[in-house]
Amino acid sequence: MNNRVTNILNIRYPLIQAPLYFLTNAELVAAVSNAGGLGTLGPHAGQESQPGSRFVALDRMRKEIRKVKKLTNKPFAATLINGPDMSFWRPTAEMLVEEGVEVVLINEVLDAEIFEFFKSHGIKTLYRALTPTIANSKEAEKLGADIIVATGFDEGGTVPSRVIGTFSIVPMIVDSVNVPVIAAGGIGDVRGVRAAMALGAEGVYAGTLFLTALENPAAEKVKRLIVDSTAEDLLLFRTLPAYYRSLPTDLSPKLAELDAQNTDRETMFKAMNGYHSLWQAMRLGNFDRGVVSTGTGISVIKSIRPAAEIVSDLMQDFL
Ligand SMILES: Cc1cc2nc3c(=O)[nH]c(=O)nc-3n(C[C@H](O)[C@H](O)[C@H](O)COP(=O)(O)O)c2cc1C
Repeated sequence: MNNRVTNILNIRYPLIQAPLYFLTNAELVAAVSNAGGLGTLGPHAGQESQPGSRFVALDRMRKEIRKVKKLTNKPFAATLINGPDMSFWRPTAEMLVEEGVEVVLINEVLDAEIFEFFKSHGIKTLYRALTPTIANSKEAEKLGADIIVATGFDEGGTVPSRVIGTFSIVPMIVDSVNVPVIAAGGIGDVRGVRAAMALGAEGVYAGTLFLTALENPAAEKVKRLIVDSTAEDLLLFRTLPAYYRSLPTDLSPKLAELDAQNTDRETMFKAMNGYHSLWQAMRLGNFDRGVVSTGTGISVIKSIRPAAEIVSDLMQDFL
């Protein structure tokens, strides 16, 4: 397989394992990259506890990057941690340069200095707006993003604030920019890959699917729940910053109920256990204290298997 995405990223197949917070680690990322895709370290990748400060997070990310480099000599990506006040992008960016990371995912921020920094160090950039729009895609292209990720409402994690599904967002963004676009949201098997490519995407970006990889540090019961569920089981509720989806846990039906009573988003966020929600439910398996966030593509995910098998299955048309 040879296209603009494989050429820019220097990878064999145009498949990116999306960052999944601490539900990524060096083993998962290296397995994806060794299989010919691009593994991505999420913020707090590989951690056994939640970090107390951003400096701790940065130091831990450096260690996890070093672990990946021991497991693969193929390219992989890391997420830029910028922080709400933007004070943190430079220390992260400098660390990524020092560690020789070849691809960086820039979430949300459109800042010329950041794109220029990476360009001047020969690092490729993936840009992903939480809510992709024609305007933010054009702006990212103007600033020098190498590839743009177009995410539909089907995705897992923090869902876009506009209800535009993957089938609609991908061609809209493809038609707005000249750089290659990668499709994200709901891709769970080869049919999703074929659909994304037919819509003009030049690659795919999958998160939920890699939650079920053998190497993923998610709790075993979370992987089983995903494999045993369909999209019909998912609960959608409003919280900060927009919507969130969860499979039924002890907590999530209560959140759906609170939302039905028009509870404000801040109260919802607190009731969801805030940033601890995913850690508790998805890492530790404490379903009374959090949510199990997935995309709507879960109906086609049928087994827990090594990341390399997921890559070869999705990329079967390009082998
Ligand atoms: C449990 C979970 C955690 C996530 N954490 C992050 C994250 O830390 N940073 C990020 O940029 N995206 C995060 N995402 C979003 C994914 O990177 C990706 O956009 C999404 O998973 C794609 O849709 P899919 O899940 O349908 O494949 C997360 C998604 C999930 C399901």
